[in-house]
Amino acid sequence: MAVSRSFLMVLSLLSLAPLCFSHKGNGGYLYPHFYDHSCSRAQEIVKSIVAKAVAREARMAASLLRLHFHDCFVKGCDASLLLDNRGSIITEKLSNPNRNSARGFEVIDEIKSALEEECPHTVSCADILALAARDSTVLAGGPSWEVPLGRRDSKGASLSDSNNNIPAPNNTFQTIFTKFKLQGLDIADLVALSGSHTIGNARCTSFRQRLYNQSGDGQPDYSLDQSYAAQLRTRCPRSGGDQNLFFLDFVSPTKFDNNYFKNILASKGLLNSDQVLLTKNKASMELVKKYAKNKKLFFEQFAMSMIKMGNISPLMGLRGEIRKNCRRININTN
Ligand code: HEM
Repeated sequence: MAVSRSFLMVLSLLSLAPLCFSHKGNGGYLYPHFYDHSCSRAQEIVKSIVAKAVAREARMAASLLRLHFHDCFVKGCDASLLLDNRGSIITEKLSNPNRNSARGFEVIDEIKSALEEECPHTVSCADILALAARDSTVLAGGPSWEVPLGRRDSKGASLSDSNNNIPAPNNTFQTIFTKFKLQGLDIADLVALSGSHTIGNARCTSFRQRLYNQSGDGQPDYSLDQSYAAQLRTRCPRSGGDQNLFFLDFVSPTKFDNNYFKNILASKGLLNSDQVLLTKNKASMELVKKYAKNKKLFFEQFAMSMIKMGNISPLMGLRGEIRKNCRRININTN
């Protein structure tokens, strides 16, 4: 009886795997039920700790969502972002996009220790990032999706890829789009995933150029609403105040909705990289308009694009490892 049940289980896993949002990596497929038997409470543990963290501070939903993005664009979704400086590892946490900016690492630590208690050496840090991103989106009012699972964790990090692959807010539209295409993502993914900026904050230093000297001629960015710009200047001066925080979506800063796209249409996208989606490319302009008009379409595309982003070069099978502590590779903990 036990044998036939486990045989059936294997059969059903094999048959489900290629169908349900799966991705062929080296050594198999990611699939949502990966931990059903090895750690059946994994998803509920992640969700409860994320919920607690977001209840403490609403912004944490945004910070956790961003961590998955900054992980996946560097060597794939392999939790390389979580490694601290140690031995030959140079942490990605100090790259230009992450320094003084990426946050939420303590929440990931808390999730990992709870999971190590429940089922030791089973759930990868890379999968924790993917689940926390989904749970954060849902808690903020956004769409839900089943997260394909089974990623393993890297044994290294890449500071240079972190600097080069993650788009900067003052990159041109073309540069940003190229960086997405290099990850296998298309224009609909770029526009929908940028919709993450419907929640969370940015520092003055991330958009100051637009307020004072957009193109090196001492003029502000005229594609930014000028009364909104004047308001931003009061707390983002020409010099100083670099770390002052501003809502990415000033209309509903902690709610995952489509106001981000409406803001862009009103010339009130905070980052240059937000506004150029409307002004520099016909296809992305159409998508911004579409998502501003139709929240449901945005949510559907966002969920699909998150699954696609989560499928970037996962480590599978015997590659990588399941870290015991997300901040270091296992060999250093022995
Ligand atoms: C399209 C290119 C993108 C650029 C240039 C960009 C750039 C930025 C910048 C500059 C910030 C503010 C950082 C700071 O000042 O500390 C930020 C915040 C954020 N980004 Fe992006 N981003 C992009 C795409 C994405 C994607 C694809 C996601 C998620 C899938 C994402 C999620 C977020 C979130 C949620 C925040 C707020 C984080 C917080 O409050 O802690 N971004 N982004």
